[in-house]
This record gives sequence, C-alpha cells and structure tokens, in this order.
Amino acid sequence: MVDVALSPLAGLSKAEIYQEITRDILAVLDGEPDRVARMATCVSLLSGAFDSWFWTGFYMVDPVKQSAGIDELVVGPYNGTLGCLRIAFGRGVCGAAAATRQTQIVADVHAFPGHIACDSRSNSEIVVPVFDPRGNLIAVFDVDSEAFGAFDEEDRDGLEAIMKSVFATG
Ligand code: SME
Repeated sequence: MVDVALSPLAGLSKAEIYQEITRDILAVLDGEPDRVARMATCVSLLSGAFDSWFWTGFYMVDPVKQSAGIDELVVGPYNGTLGCLRIAFGRGVCGAAAATRQTQIVADVHAFPGHIACDSRSNSEIVVPVFDPRGNLIAVFDVDSEAFGAFDEEDRDGLEAIMKSVFATG
C-alpha cells in the first residue's frame, strides 16, 4: 500500500486555510515582540499554504533611507528564489502597494506596467501593505504565483487580517 502523506491543510477551503494558519501564527508568536521574528514566522507558515505559491515574503520600509527623505523598500524575511534587494516606492507591484497603502491584486503580472520580474515563473501576484499599531507603513507582504489569477478577495481578506493581527495589534 502506498503511504500518502496528506498536508494538514488538505481538504480545507481557502477561508479555512487562512483561519488555520492565523491560529498557528498567533500561537507561535504569543509574547514575541521582535518584528523580524514575527515576519519570519509568517513566511514559514504561509509559504506552504497553496501549491502555486513560489515566492512569499516581506519588503520592509528602510528607516535609514526614510530619515533621509527617501521612500524605499528593502527585502526582509522570504521564502523562494533570489528576490531583488531594494524597490523604490511607486515601482512595480510592491512599490505600488507601498505608495498607495492599498493591497494590489495582479491577475497577470505581464500586463502590469513596471512589474519587476525577479523570477520568470511569476504569472500573478498579491501585495498587502503592513502597518504598525500607530498606522505607520512598516512593510509590504508579497506573494508570487505560477498560476494566472491565483489571488482574489478571499486572499486579500485573509492576508490583510493576518498582517493586522500580527503587526498592527498590541
Ligand atoms: N514582482 C515584484 C518584485 C518582488 S519579487 O516578486 C520577489 C514587484 O513587481 O514589485
């Protein structure tokens, strides 16, 4: 008999997967104040959530550049192939999310003006802004998928809720 190892998330709906992962992230992070540890835990637990996801991670607002009046993102904890190191606000999908402070859902990255192609496998992308408890933008959370149109309102709701409960609460 073939021994098939089932993922604990197998058979769950998308909303249930986000609920399950949210519970796990908050349980692991209970009492942990360090922001990088919180980002790394989100990446670890979210990167395996859906089969088509191949790049999952954070671009953080660079506080040194910001104090010099320059709005720029620098790569943070991620899982996937080599990501570009820095992205100016307004450039690509990440820069658009940072500049507008709005989640970006891109069904076809090849049709997005200025999309930054870090990996040729990317066909769709979601980028969610991340705020601290005072409402300051601290990062964006970026997921790339090999599938076209991989992200919808459920992903927006699920990921925004996770980013809010991990970084904007407390
Ligand atoms: N595609 C992103 C750049 C980051 S990589 O996907 C890891 C963008 O256009 O902002």
